[in-house]
Amino acid sequence: MANDKLAKVVKAIESSDLGSIKVILSGLVKLANDPMANIKDLQNIIKLDPPLAGKILSVANSAYYATQRRFNNIEQAVIWIGLEAVKEIALSQFACDIFTMNSKKHRIRSRLSLWRHSLVVAILAKLIYRRELGKPGGNAFTAGIIHDIGLIFEDQHLNGDFVTVLEEMDEYDGSIVDIEQKVLGFDHAGLAMTIANRWDFPSDIAFALAGHHGPDSTPSNFRMLTNVIFLCDNVSHDMGFGFYELSQEQVNENIKNSLELLQIDEHSLDLLSEDVNFELDNMLKNFSPF
Ligand SMILES: [Fe+2]
Ligand SMILES: [Fe+2]
Repeated sequence: MANDKLAKVVKAIESSDLGSIKVILSGLVKLANDPMANIKDLQNIIKLDPPLAGKILSVANSAYYATQRRFNNIEQAVIWIGLEAVKEIALSQFACDIFTMNSKKHRIRSRLSLWRHSLVVAILAKLIYRRELGKPGGNAFTAGIIHDIGLIFEDQHLNGDFVTVLEEMDEYDGSIVDIEQKVLGFDHAGLAMTIANRWDFPSDIAFALAGHHGPDSTPSNFRMLTNVIFLCDNVSHDMGFGFYELSQEQVNENIKNSLELLQIDEHSLDLLSEDVNFELDNMLKNFSPF
């Protein structure tokens, strides 16, 4: 690996608590990517994580899925709320665990905004695929929820440098990736792609993580997911769910260009944003990590 610091941090991630969750995350990503996945496959992964099974039962019994009956059995709960929804719950719970892992008090505020930001990007990406692009977009939610995971890795393993990056962001009008490149010699997008490749994630997810701040260098056959995550990242800032300040002018321009590229009209995006707020409220009721 060209950059010594990058090599060190990758090694640190893989031998830490974050590395130990690789099995569950890789399993969920593979499953979300597999149209032939069935309830049994999902149950096998859920079994690896007992708190997740509890979460699925509580969601199945929540007001959102209101029913006369109560579920005590994970198999029935999975059938009731559906495979897709269970995959999303599993990924959200997983991300929630990572986003709160070893979170020190002073970091909680920024972790909370990063968690909300990632959920908004994931929900919007899923809705864009299904409603605007007419595709199942099996990896859209997954890529959305982990697109900024590189920031968590940096916070966890390079905290001093990460705090410097955030302070410089407050002080100067620069893009986060430029400041990371200056302070660290790499950025969270590149770091996430390195980990995604080492953990055998599907290529479109790895490229989307790498290109979510600049999709132009993504190979054309993987460009759609990257473009969608780039758009959603900007829309989430526009909706007030950004992780840091961005120039509104730049956000507007990125949204306009992405909509043109994906052939989505502005009005449809407004309607989707309303649905995102609704889904987000439900998600936050079920996941209260902080
Ligand atoms: Fe990012
Ligand atoms: Fe982001």
